[in-house]
Amino acid sequence: MVIKPKVRGFVCVTAHPGGCAAQVAEQIAHVRAAGPIKDGPRKVLVLGASTGYGLSSRIAAAFGSGAATAGVFFERPSEEGRTATPGWYNTIAFTRAARAAGLYARNFNGDAFSDTLKQEVVTALKADLGQVDLVVYSLASPRRQHPRTGAVHKSVLKPVGTSYSNKTVDTDKGIVSEITIDPATDAEMADTIAVMGGEDWEMWMDALETAGVLAPGATSVAYSYIGPEVTWPIYKNGTIGLAKNDLERAANRIDARLKAHGYGRAFISVNKALVTQASSAIPVVPLYISILYKIMKERGLHEGCIGQMQRLFATQMYNGNPLAFDEAGRVRVDDWEMRPEIQAEVARIWPQVTSENLAALTDIVGYRAEFLKLFGFGLPGIDYEAEVEPHIAGSEL
Ligand code: NAI
Repeated sequence: MVIKPKVRGFVCVTAHPGGCAAQVAEQIAHVRAAGPIKDGPRKVLVLGASTGYGLSSRIAAAFGSGAATAGVFFERPSEEGRTATPGWYNTIAFTRAARAAGLYARNFNGDAFSDTLKQEVVTALKADLGQVDLVVYSLASPRRQHPRTGAVHKSVLKPVGTSYSNKTVDTDKGIVSEITIDPATDAEMADTIAVMGGEDWEMWMDALETAGVLAPGATSVAYSYIGPEVTWPIYKNGTIGLAKNDLERAANRIDARLKAHGYGRAFISVNKALVTQASSAIPVVPLYISILYKIMKERGLHEGCIGQMQRLFATQMYNGNPLAFDEAGRVRVDDWEMRPEIQAEVARIWPQVTSENLAALTDIVGYRAEFLKLFGFGLPGIDYEAEVEPHIAGSEL
């Protein structure tokens, strides 16, 4: 079939297998061009490995330092006549490339929040790799079924305490409007913490440690975001921010636990705001990203997920570098985004943006291109008019 993008709000319901493979190849090329990462990870488990920051972490580990990687994700496979979600195609492309380079790659498509999947992964890692020296926690999900209580928690993106009004953009239609979001209820706050907080990360580390699958000196990292004050009511001080505080709590506990055994470390890396499936669902943030991209591109400071993860590995976690922590004990690769001159420019442009001047004042064009790229559209060298087979069987994985 000929596969075209079908955008519905902040998702695209189709994905192009060739385009997804091309964007994975671009990321691999980026890492290879940056050169080997000395003393990098050898055996890596990535939770949330199929898209966004998790996929880029996996690529940086595999192609930057020759790591064996196991990836966990939740993606809809393709069927006869129906495309998969992009993470499915990304993973097939990654796995083919890794194996072609002689690297171990194993995949687990299922619910990472469940005990069943955790046990399946632990058993497989024990048999195949013995122990892992890096665990990347990069899940982003709208829901979690709690493995012990069976309760289904749904996360919300809302302010805490008082309602919040600001500009937002419909990235598809290019319309800038004012949005007011009512504050979350106590139950919604608790649910968001249950989904995006640190409990599941702790459960993973517990399962791995109990089974003896963590190597001495093992590192674990999870990702967070802080961003500028204009987004704080909906992000840092909103329900997702509460969940991120809980992720920091978990980082401290996991770190203490690893150190109590005389080895290991766990920490949070605060990453840059980027177009991913997760971030496109957050009100206000896509407008901020569109402004930010324009400013960072003009100054030659723009990075995508792979640029961020390659830099995290090469300048902070490995290559003989010590981790540089901020006052709260977090690693910051959002440092370029948060430079005062970048943020001053965002603050200058923000109040001026309207639907009419959106294209001139922001990089909405780049935002849209980046969004479509997540689904494999708009890649150079792909003939989007050509017939392609959407179905790639799971036996590939
Ligand atoms: P994403 O939507 O691109 O990736 C999410 C991953 O989680 C995918 O691999 C998906 O398959 C997997 N997943 C979701 N539910 C799952 C489940 N139940 N079981 C197994 N796998 C599941 O998200 P993105 O943006 O890469 O986010 C990853 C982390 O990075 C999150 O903690 C996010 O808050 C953080 N972050 C994101 C930023 C951004 O601007 N996108 C900025 C800074 C941090």
